Amino acid sequence: MTENALVVDGVTAGYGGGDVLHDVCFTVPEGAITCIVGPNGAGKSTLLAAISGLLRPRAGQVLLRGERLTGKSPRQILRAGVVHVPQNHSLFPDMTVAENLDLGGYTLGSRSLVARRRAGVQELFPEVATWAKKKAGSLSGGQQRLVEFARCLMLDPTLIILDEPSMGLAPKILRTVFDAVRTMNSSGKTVLLVEQNARAGLAMSGYGVVLENGRVRLTGTGTQVLEHPEIGALYLGGSAKIAPVQAAPEAPGPGQRT
Ligand SMILES: Nc1ncnc2c1ncn2[C@@H]1O[C@H](COP(=O)(O)OP(=O)(O)OP(=O)(O)O)[C@@H](O)[C@H]1O
Ligand SMILES: [Mg+2]
Repeated sequence: MTENALVVDGVTAGYGGGDVLHDVCFTVPEGAITCIVGPNGAGKSTLLAAISGLLRPRAGQVLLRGERLTGKSPRQILRAGVVHVPQNHSLFPDMTVAENLDLGGYTLGSRSLVARRRAGVQELFPEVATWAKKKAGSLSGGQQRLVEFARCLMLDPTLIILDEPSMGLAPKILRTVFDAVRTMNSSGKTVLLVEQNARAGLAMSGYGVVLENGRVRLTGTGTQVLEHPEIGALYLGGSAKIAPVQAAPEAPGPGQRT
């Protein structure tokens, strides 16, 4: 049985004008990449906010390795091991890359630990090390994304939440950003991401979740979601191609992993 890093259990949440999320249930398996896809306004960012504590669910709960996150402040949830890289760029543009990284480790409260962590993340992302003295605002959008990833690793999180990491980036940069997501995952991190670029996002993910009108429409492995005929037609620009040589295997039905 796969262990779950995160369990989202019946989360209902909104902003005062009514609920945006309705009884959302899914799990994020430990050590894997899980990708949430769905149309604009489906509630993807709202769901991430409900996990990282920026928004308090009206009902339901979120558990990280069995520990209840719901009811904790964003800071407490961060300390519990959940880092959230938002949809918009979030570096301090007038500070250097190194300073931005160190700020990511600010709550560690130990300079030597911050320095050790910085050395570790720079080893994982050698390009980031070469930009250490540059102002973050002078980097390209894709480069800034890599620094944001490196910064979120400073706290050695249990779960990394990425909201549309490829947003606003030139197509030729996408590969670099997706490679960086895989690098973080290979270093042992569980990743939950929202990706507008649904096909590419699902292709690199072990698991997929389709959110529609604030409800979970489908969960399954990345491949199951990619190859689901209706989902393909609705969100992925036509149904997914199945490998031409082999006959399509009987795929197990995509189960709700609640
Ligand atoms: N801060 C807010 N206050 C009030 N309503 C909000 C707020 N943020 C989002 N909403 C509403 O909640 C709904 C879901 O928005 P959300 O940003 O979660 O969607 P999304 O799936 O992330 O969309 P996108 O793909 O465009 O990023 C929308 O109807 C939106 O207008
Ligand atoms: Mg969003």
